[in-house]
Amino acid sequence: MQTVVVEHPIVRSRLSVMRDETSSNAEFRAALRELSTLLVYEATRDLPLTELDITTPVGPTKGHTLANPPLIVPVLRAGLGMAEAAFNLLPESQMGFVGLARNEQTHDPEAYMASLPDSLAGRPVIVLDPMLATGGSLAHCCELLSTRGATTIVVVCALAAPEGVHRIEASGLVSSLFTASIDEGLNSNAYIVPGLGDAGDRQFGPR
Ligand code: URA
Repeated sequence: MQTVVVEHPIVRSRLSVMRDETSSNAEFRAALRELSTLLVYEATRDLPLTELDITTPVGPTKGHTLANPPLIVPVLRAGLGMAEAAFNLLPESQMGFVGLARNEQTHDPEAYMASLPDSLAGRPVIVLDPMLATGGSLAHCCELLSTRGATTIVVVCALAAPEGVHRIEASGLVSSLFTASIDEGLNSNAYIVPGLGDAGDRQFGPR
């Protein structure tokens, strides 16, 4: 798995707004949206192109279009805040949704919703989840995508913990991971440290 920590002054500044506990929900959402644009821009750098003939007002030339636009998959609920930015960069893409919750008996992640095409064979997938903490739910999401035939899965997250990076690398299902930071680790409640708190609550308010 290729792991890329996107180094850029604007990435650092937006991530700092998100980390700051005094940022409002609106400020947090705006910073996540802008950060997502930069991360998805990097994550799509190597997408294959198809050449086409176009005509400018001055004459003919060669142009390009995306050969195989990726399916964008935000993981509910926190990944919703990254979806609009990704869709704006990839208007030719389609979007699927995965909702994950913890089974209170087994403590394992379970999909309560998977709104996805039946077959993902031959389709690159970009998974959006702001926080890669233990990696358990993200690995589960990638298994779900893999059972539908996805073979190229790119994960974009705002923040990652080393534990989560190792977990999804060990799954063998993820081609590459793009993040703004790999933080120190997890606390006893599986929150990323120093992190930014609960990314869902910070966007939408507490449940
Ligand atoms: N999910 C979050 O929203 N925050 C964390 O720190 C870990 C998981």
